[in-house]
Amino acid sequence: MTPASRYETHEHDVLIIGAGGAGLRAAIEALEQGARVAVVCKSLLGKAHTVMAEGGMAAAMANVDKADNWRIHFRDTMNGGKRLNNWRMAQLHAQESPDRVRELEQWGALFDRTADGEILQRAFGGHTFKRLCHVGDRTGLEMIRTLQDRGVEMGFDVFMECTVTRLLKDGDRVAGAFAYWRNSGDFVVFKAKAVVIATGGIGKSWKITSNSWECTGDGMALAYDAGAELLDMEFVQFHPTGMVWPPGVTGVLVTEAVRGEGGILRNNNGDRFMEKYDPKRLELSTRDVVARAIYTEVKEGRGSPHGGAFLDISHKPAEYVKRKLPSMYHQFKELADVDITRGPMEVGPTCHYVMGGIRVDAETGQSSAPGLFAAGEVAAGLHGANRLGGNSLSDLLVFGRRAGLAAAHYAQKQSWPSMEDAQVDLAARRALAPFACGGGENPYAVHHDLQEVMQNLVGIFRTDEDLRRALVALDHLKQRAKRVSAQGSRVFNPGWHLCFDLDAMLTLSEACTRAALARKESRGAHSRIDFPKTEDGWGRKNQVIVKKGDAMDLFEVPRPPLPDELEQILAEDK
Ligand code: FUM
Repeated sequence: MTPASRYETHEHDVLIIGAGGAGLRAAIEALEQGARVAVVCKSLLGKAHTVMAEGGMAAAMANVDKADNWRIHFRDTMNGGKRLNNWRMAQLHAQESPDRVRELEQWGALFDRTADGEILQRAFGGHTFKRLCHVGDRTGLEMIRTLQDRGVEMGFDVFMECTVTRLLKDGDRVAGAFAYWRNSGDFVVFKAKAVVIATGGIGKSWKITSNSWECTGDGMALAYDAGAELLDMEFVQFHPTGMVWPPGVTGVLVTEAVRGEGGILRNNNGDRFMEKYDPKRLELSTRDVVARAIYTEVKEGRGSPHGGAFLDISHKPAEYVKRKLPSMYHQFKELADVDITRGPMEVGPTCHYVMGGIRVDAETGQSSAPGLFAAGEVAAGLHGANRLGGNSLSDLLVFGRRAGLAAAHYAQKQSWPSMEDAQVDLAARRALAPFACGGGENPYAVHHDLQEVMQNLVGIFRTDEDLRRALVALDHLKQRAKRVSAQGSRVFNPGWHLCFDLDAMLTLSEACTRAALARKESRGAHSRIDFPKTEDGWGRKNQVIVKKGDAMDLFEVPRPPLPDELEQILAEDK
């Protein structure tokens, strides 16, 4: 009996890893093309970080501000990303988002409406016009619900609570995955003609984060191990407003929609401090600017009692606040005993999103590893150095669809892969290694220490000295991670699961730190105290990381010049 046939084995044309907005949209598109599709996710279907994009999806529908169009959305996205964005992705995103939103509505998403029955749009930071189509403050949730219903009805196969630990290859070509069931610990082999990774971000490497337990960067690490390139890993977004109190809920997201609906930020002197940092856009400045402003106010002694800023929406009628921000109302009432219709919230920056990720082709989401596609937060390019709020949900729809389409077409041209037994054996041995390491390191302790390192040394403001200290600390943590041990059996064993997640988090934390050390300027979400200026030279290149043996190879690639018509759109910026 070969190793592969010893394990439960499934064959599909297209294997999608991750079931957030991008994974589900990719699955739907691949099904439309007639592919047999599997969706594997390590959480329950419907539980994804997508739901943390609460305030809306950006699309130039021009329902509220008639002057809006894709060109202005493109320009806002490029300016928000400090022009480091993949311009073709920014163009496709701005052009295709309205159709993707309309399609979602046809599939059953119940958006808030204007008085004349169109999809309502609200203001968000960095967007020139009211552009965010929304469902109160539960937009991501509505999107997942809609896509999930559609996909299940169309008939994809779902493998939930199943973690992929390794991509399998046929020669150079990615041709499947090795995974285990989280409840039994039993192994599974997936064979596929094409694989789409849509596993989201890496936020669990930081201590204060809006990300939940799934966001450990597994997909990025799987792709990196399989030979795919990572792009611009230094750009990590700290959302300006997470909860700061009580301690058990620190980092939980406070949607930007609070500011979009008129919320005002003040320090402990009662000053509206954004007047100082961005007098024109105030609270609706871009996230990098607002996060730095709150951080600075706190550092300089003007913070709220629990180390944040005050965010106040209580000047709006209570009924309006409850209708537009129902989740925020309940979140603060139940978790912090604060009635946001009567007084301010305390908020501070929380790690929310990574702009860097797998380097992909703009049109297809194809990575540099044959047979491997990526979409959503796991893929890099669209957002450049800083993402605008609301651009994530439309990113998932636009590029999820494109990756699903391209993967299905790629699969049509491939024969069934064959895999060497040795790689399946190796994947199984690696997965079981923590059980053979009795009395070794506690994975929770290593994770705790990793979060301290990333929070304290690779945070909102960075310096050469801190980043070098972080690299030394990460190296030490990597040595400890080699000795992590799992207690007990393979059945429902979260400690064992964390052993695998740690490898991914450590790899991506190192990638982020190395890229941050190399980028000797400040741009968007990457702020170097020792290099405070934005340098033209750095704006002409991106940074790529690829695996060379056991080492990380970092190199620069020139950015392709913008075509004249897009240059023209940027030049029209007043
Ligand atoms: O604040 C928010 O509702 C988050 C939105 C996003 O990350 O796009």
